[in-house]
Amino acid sequence: MKFHQMNWQQRLAAIDANTNLSTSEKALLNHNYSAINEQMIENYITSFSLPEGVLPNIIINDDAYQVPMVTEEPSVIAAASNGARMINMGGGVHTTNVSREMIGQVLINDADFSTIETLVTNQAAHLIDLGNAAHPSMAQRGGGLKRITTRDLGSGFVSVDLHIDTQAAMGANVVNTISEAVAGYFKAQQVGNVVMAILSNFATSSLVTAKVALPFKAIAKAGFEAADIAQRIVLANQFSQRDPYRATTENKGVMNGIDAVVMASGNDWRAISAGVHAYAARDGQYRNLVTWTCDDTTLYGEITVPMPVGIVGGSISIVPLVQTNHKLLNVDSASQLAQVIVAVGLAQNLSALRALVTSGIQAGHMQLQLKSLALAVGATIAEVPVLVTQLQQAAHADMQTARQLLTEMREK
Ligand code: MEV
Repeated sequence: MKFHQMNWQQRLAAIDANTNLSTSEKALLNHNYSAINEQMIENYITSFSLPEGVLPNIIINDDAYQVPMVTEEPSVIAAASNGARMINMGGGVHTTNVSREMIGQVLINDADFSTIETLVTNQAAHLIDLGNAAHPSMAQRGGGLKRITTRDLGSGFVSVDLHIDTQAAMGANVVNTISEAVAGYFKAQQVGNVVMAILSNFATSSLVTAKVALPFKAIAKAGFEAADIAQRIVLANQFSQRDPYRATTENKGVMNGIDAVVMASGNDWRAISAGVHAYAARDGQYRNLVTWTCDDTTLYGEITVPMPVGIVGGSISIVPLVQTNHKLLNVDSASQLAQVIVAVGLAQNLSALRALVTSGIQAGHMQLQLKSLALAVGATIAEVPVLVTQLQQAAHADMQTARQLLTEMREK
């Protein structure tokens, strides 16, 4: 029997035969079984969980939000909360979401660009009807295929871009269904070799902008001059403008926040990450997503990224915890969710840069990292606080020291 034809018990038995699992390892796989999750993927064996926490208060367009975040990194939620605290002192984040459309691509080669362009112009209404007929319910709700553009990719390669309003959904399936229907038309016209039809994750028609203006007192820190902190944040940010090595790390920090909310909200974080990083490289060089500037009194931050998330569809309608998270988020539209996510990314970046240009990142992270270190060497939940206190006093708080301290503690 093929692996994917086996039922869950048979799959576990097959894995056990290959891997020789211990009783407690088998119990762990069993314990995390979920009937819903089993339906979601192929070859299901168990469910993998990550910690979820909440950013308790971030003000966005004058409304306060509590934001669930899913992450395995110890300092992410603490940093987001700290960033939000500073931002709230400056009146909160102001966000805009200019448009919310997904793009589907029909990719054709061996094509004459002007022939395709003329066809698209002359047949626009027909093509739009054809696309919408493939997914009538989306059109009935006021969404669906809205317009079609073409791009000449050179050497006979052409992209026919379908601009699709997916309403409250991220809409990958809708976009792909409509794109395949429109591709059928181009195949029938024999205007080139229709290679494929698929949505683009470079969602440049779903851009969200978030801005903050922070009086220096909002970023004040004991032992540092607030104006100096602001100038150093601006400088730090300028490195990312110039250097992809630094920009990648700064953007990773932004994604600490963005991905954590994207995951908690049941959206596709790979799609979001791919689109955001492509946007960071849109002028040919990979750069930072957030821009910081300052004048004599105020630090200004701004980020624009594609954020094509949904509040219905996919795992959102299936996973109960995701539904609970939407209740915590209390957003009414996909656009509102997108704005919350981008605002959290900005808060995350502010907190990271402020730490980096003042006391450095390790000081604030240490308490949380020591907890992870204690767990990593096998400390029980009861032993963790004692071991963390001892590690704080150790000359080198590393794995070896942690192991040694734990052994000594248990021997006493
Ligand atoms: C760590 O997860 C994120 C940071 O490296 C971000 C940054 O360097 O800007 C602290």
